[in-house]
Amino acid sequence: MINAGMSFLGFLLCLNIIPKFKPMFIEAKLFGIDMSKTSKQKVPEALGVVCGAVFLIILFLFIPIPFYKHLSTGTEKFPYHEYVEYLAALLSICCMVFLGFADDVLDLRWRHKLLLPTISSLPLLMVYFVNFNSTTIIVPQPLRGLLGYDLNLGCLYYVYMGMLAVFCTNAINILAGVNGLEVGQSWVIGCSVLIFNFIELSGEQRDAHMFSSYFIMPFISVTSALLYYNWYPSQVFVGDTFCYFSGMTFAVVAILGHFSKTMLLFFIPQILNFIYSVPQLFRFVPCPRHRLPRFNAKTEKLELSTTKFKYKELSIIGKLLINIYRLVGCIKILDNNEEFMECNNFTLINLAIRYLGPLHERTLVSILLIFQIFCSIIAFTIRYQLALLFYEK
Ligand code: UD1
Ligand code: MG
Repeated sequence: MINAGMSFLGFLLCLNIIPKFKPMFIEAKLFGIDMSKTSKQKVPEALGVVCGAVFLIILFLFIPIPFYKHLSTGTEKFPYHEYVEYLAALLSICCMVFLGFADDVLDLRWRHKLLLPTISSLPLLMVYFVNFNSTTIIVPQPLRGLLGYDLNLGCLYYVYMGMLAVFCTNAINILAGVNGLEVGQSWVIGCSVLIFNFIELSGEQRDAHMFSSYFIMPFISVTSALLYYNWYPSQVFVGDTFCYFSGMTFAVVAILGHFSKTMLLFFIPQILNFIYSVPQLFRFVPCPRHRLPRFNAKTEKLELSTTKFKYKELSIIGKLLINIYRLVGCIKILDNNEEFMECNNFTLINLAIRYLGPLHERTLVSILLIFQIFCSIIAFTIRYQLALLFYEK
């Protein structure tokens, strides 16, 4: 209840201070141009750092609360292992906000974007190693004949957790480019995680889910305030700072709350977007700096954005991937002559436009967020119904 109260105050604080920071960001040359608008005015960028800061303040002030019993009586032994978990989680998120902001200011390259979350997750993995060091997974029933009841993944499990942080941060960052989408998807995932935590509070893992909700409630509150200003037409952009902050928060609660598989279920749209994007992310097909949909000023609608290349010059894998996508029907080839081939960029946003036709920005983001909610419902169904087929209760 105290955490919820502090989160609400954090929401009001963010709502109040974000507009005040806008001119300061523009003066510091931290702004972007909204590519889907006719007016080319400067929109302050990287406001995610304000939310990140408020989030950290809330959680710093909240530190004594879960431990008050031990502080006031002093009779029971102080739970240092829980305390260090809390601090390491904060350290990882704090580190990620800092590195994310550095990315926004310095415009780092893609290889750095992969390195930053890995480094930020190290404090967390260290605590995991000291506190739990449980790297054993329960094998799903159909595979038990082959692998046995459980499987010790050893250091591979740490690689998996490090990759989870890299995935969560970047997956949100690449499903972006229309007003409100980065924050909106994080808000939906945050709410889904909180619902999941509340359901599980009555279960065996109560402490882990309580811990997760301490982080998720302030996260939802600051995200709600940011969404208010980032919704169409955006008054502020959230920057990579926000994507990193939000992805890392999810990775932290998933790792320390021991529900990384369920967390990945909440990331279904991001996973689909990632898989679809693979040819461009790994440069088998040329990837322009921006893949966001193209704005048509006449109709005020968003249309497919494209990439143009010489088909002949693609690698064998590139050609193969283009043909597979063509066969499945998930890309639209706009031009294919002797010289050039032109097709849409491989993003979920473009895929929505491919099937639904040109859409107004607000409609497009609403559709994508409804899809995110729909996927969360599927995630809950899988978690609570289908999982029974693979694991005993
Ligand atoms: C990622 C995407 C890129 C996409 C961009 C949009 C990949 C590999 N990268 O790059 O395709 O174009 O995000 O955020 O998929 N912007 C808008 N409207 C919005 C949000 C952003 O016009 O609602 C524009 C603004 O000019 C803003 C810029 O996008 O300044 C921010 O882009 P940035 O976050 O730096 O791009 P990346 O994360 O590198
Ligand atoms: Mg970005």
